[in-house]
Amino acid sequence: MTHFLDIHQTAPEDLRAIIDQSIAMKNARAGRPKGAPDDDQPLKNHMVALIFEKPSTRTRISFDVGVRQMGGQTMVLSGTDMQLGHGETIADTARVLSRYVDLIMIRTFEEQTLLDMAEYASVPVINGLTNRTHPCQIMADIMTFEEHAGPIKGRKVVWSGDGNNVFASFAHAAKQFDFELIFTGPTPLDPEAALDGLYTTERDPFKAVQGADLVVTDTWVSMHDPQSARERRHNQLRGYQVNTELMSAAKPEALFMHCLPAHRDDEATSEVMDGPNSVIFDEAENRLHAQKSIMRWCLGK
Ligand code: CP
Ligand code: NVA
Repeated sequence: MTHFLDIHQTAPEDLRAIIDQSIAMKNARAGRPKGAPDDDQPLKNHMVALIFEKPSTRTRISFDVGVRQMGGQTMVLSGTDMQLGHGETIADTARVLSRYVDLIMIRTFEEQTLLDMAEYASVPVINGLTNRTHPCQIMADIMTFEEHAGPIKGRKVVWSGDGNNVFASFAHAAKQFDFELIFTGPTPLDPEAALDGLYTTERDPFKAVQGADLVVTDTWVSMHDPQSARERRHNQLRGYQVNTELMSAAKPEALFMHCLPAHRDDEATSEVMDGPNSVIFDEAENRLHAQKSIMRWCLGK
């Protein structure tokens, strides 16, 4: 079974093939209306379940549109509407869903939920974000980087802010795609220890971004973080805001990325988000293309 669970669990040559195919598929349908079918219909007769236990705008819509463009059908399900939210085990849910659908995408809280789904499903499972990782996002980010700035291999990527789930997938990608990753943020919000060795830390954000080809940040309070942490996190992270001063310490052509949704003028200023180096909306668009390629890879299409 070919699941897409995490970037470090997918071979570098497969990751490269997925990125290359996503760019080719994007180019092949350039200028067409969003609802126009792709010429080949690799997901024809395929049914895809999209399960969300957390809110989503980009993941929900990009997966749904992507499946339809490839000729398949979707069911968008919220965990609370399913028996999953009322005590049915993940294992039983996975076995049952596998009798109805050809592919499962799940956004959930605990990584164990994703792992159980993958273990007990007899169809491929895709990670649409957990508390620990967000691999589909980083595939879109790598695609976006390469479209704008060429191969990511050997380049310098700087993450400023919370060492969260999106950072974790960047750390996995740094190894698989062979780029340099610097984390700059406060000690209490360091990435989890399991990621040690995949990145280096520089506490001073201005030193960190020197020579950077890409500066990335994310929300200071993620969906799984307690809202009560908001004020403390803001105090801890204020010095790591991505603003024009920080961007001007990076390479002049350095790209700026944010997976969105953003809290404008917290983790990044609107001036940067809407500025010439920002590629945030290309990133959002590329979720569609990258995930289409991931789904094809999972299904061997
Ligand atoms: N970046 C991202 O995953 O966005 P959504 O939460 O809107 O899906
Ligand atoms: N770190 C954020 C990413 C949202 C796409 C969260 O988990 O809420």
